[in-house]
Amino acid sequence: MRIDIVSLFPEFVAQIAGHGVVGRAQERGLIALQGWNPRDYAEGNYRRVDDRPFGGGPGMVMLIDPLRACIAAARAADPASAKVVYLSPQGAPLNQAKVRALADEPRLILLCGRYEGVDERLIAAEVDEELSIGDYVLSGGELAAAVVIDAVARLQDGALNDAESAAQDSFDADGGLLDCPHYTRPVEHELGTVPEVLMSGNHAEIARWRRQQALGRTWLRRPDLLDEAGLSKADRELLEA
Ligand code: ADE
Repeated sequence: MRIDIVSLFPEFVAQIAGHGVVGRAQERGLIALQGWNPRDYAEGNYRRVDDRPFGGGPGMVMLIDPLRACIAAARAADPASAKVVYLSPQGAPLNQAKVRALADEPRLILLCGRYEGVDERLIAAEVDEELSIGDYVLSGGELAAAVVIDAVARLQDGALNDAESAAQDSFDADGGLLDCPHYTRPVEHELGTVPEVLMSGNHAEIARWRRQQALGRTWLRRPDLLDEAGLSKADRELLEA
């Protein structure tokens, strides 16, 4: 898939593209990233990209025209039609179901706002989806775009070395529960001992223990997720055990 990032800080794209799963997904040709700077599409000596808000108040609002021209240039770089996603605190909350849907798109254009925001008319005309990565305010959409890029890149076929690991993560495992705890060597450590069942070699027992841990953690930490998880009768019994 191809992801274009419209941002006043295109260096940011190089930063996220160079590391970890995203870097590897790029090397393997699974995702292609390109940054686009609206300032390159701004007119005049000052290449102005923002102005004061009508109605007064602090901060600056990003102008329609540089953003529109920049998005048009990004769209024209590839014939596949792109979904335009605007990252903002006003957006719908990002979750793993949304990430999965985005990961299936052939193309995304991620629009990163700065200052107080973007002229609402540009959003109405160009944006397909507005997404927030949480109920807090960042100084721009770039970190949120990085979150989307990472989450989407690791779901591309072949991006992860262990094909299983995506499926077993929190939220992907059997209907949106938190992940179970994990342990590695040594078995005995001054910080504690590895639960015995994990060394039993009994795969059915191990699976049952993991499911029970996942259910218990979700119940304790994120009860809101349990309501949507659609628990089976066996799950309810595990949870009550
Ligand atoms: N831009 C600023 N804050 C944001 C947030 N919480 N999510 C997405 N984009 C943002």
